[in-house]
Amino acid sequence: DGLHSLMVAAGKLYFGTAMETNNLDDAAYQVIASNKNEFGMITPENSQKWEVTEPTQGEFSFTQADQVAARAKANGQLLRCHTLTWHSQLPSFVSTGAWTPEMLTAVLTAHLTTVVQHYGGQCYAWDVVNEALNEDGSLRESVFLTTLGPDYIPLSFAVAARASDPGPGAGAANRPKLYYNDFNLETNPAKAEGAAAIVRLVRDSQIPDARVDGVGLQAHLTVSQTPSRADLAAILRGFAALDGGAGRVEVAYTELDIAIDRGTATAAAHNQTQDLEEQQAAEYAAVVGSCLDVDACVGVTVWQFTDKYSWVPATFPGKGEACLFTENFGKKKAYESVLTLL
Ligand code: XIL
Repeated sequence: DGLHSLMVAAGKLYFGTAMETNNLDDAAYQVIASNKNEFGMITPENSQKWEVTEPTQGEFSFTQADQVAARAKANGQLLRCHTLTWHSQLPSFVSTGAWTPEMLTAVLTAHLTTVVQHYGGQCYAWDVVNEALNEDGSLRESVFLTTLGPDYIPLSFAVAARASDPGPGAGAANRPKLYYNDFNLETNPAKAEGAAAIVRLVRDSQIPDARVDGVGLQAHLTVSQTPSRADLAAILRGFAALDGGAGRVEVAYTELDIAIDRGTATAAAHNQTQDLEEQQAAEYAAVVGSCLDVDACVGVTVWQFTDKYSWVPATFPGKGEACLFTENFGKKKAYESVLTLL
């Protein structure tokens, strides 16, 4: 048994991982990534982002993400699709354009419609809007906010809803779940309240078809700063009480990793390597355990399962070792603790 099969036995939909085209030819990596007992859900780490799928206005490219999707399909794995409206990894034609509201509405609508239709029937979920919040819970400055105001958010959800509607008779099961996704929702109450406000904004919007089905908690965490299992479960329950316009929202951990920072005082207090790895293992179990504790939590995705491909060291200097497997694909204490929990 592995992470996914045990997660399913525990009543959840999946345990998943991010994967990218540069991982496809790594045989040792694929032994684990292709094993549906371990990972039943795949998120393309970068290849569905706007800069990849529409680098130049009106010129779409799905070659990379299609490779990831094809591999997942061949392995019998589902796909979490990621991401549509985001300020980052945005091609310069969007971020530096001199847009009127009408023009940017057309650009956004064309992008979301084309990408969502291309992946029609293939996505369990779409991260429709990603990282729209500042840490204080207000909306983040971006070309979208500046040009369109907060309405760009319900607009994005409405366009994704229409583009992914399989039509009458197809049934709700064939529609991807439409998610709002962000980081630090686990640790910052002001930002979590901002995410709740986004769900209400979409629900109360006058734009036809706008709805939110899920809130994704990225869960990019740091060892010794992860909330307790009970506190995490309370945060999940807070979101699950919200109506996104089509009923209560579901929740998921969408990009879990828990980085070790060997430079901090806290890390120095845990002066032995072993202690930090044990602490990390306990925190992984707290996160996965909180999902088990909340019915509305459908699953957990790790943002790569091996330190070999983790984004953490390159992005946060001094931090690393954030994944369940070592660079050489050895199972860490964190892996064993999650497996034991399940
Ligand atoms: C990261 C990828 O892991 C990196 O490879 C890339 O260089 C930058 O983006 N929040 C998100 C993800 O929603 O898309 C980001 O992924 C990590 C933070």
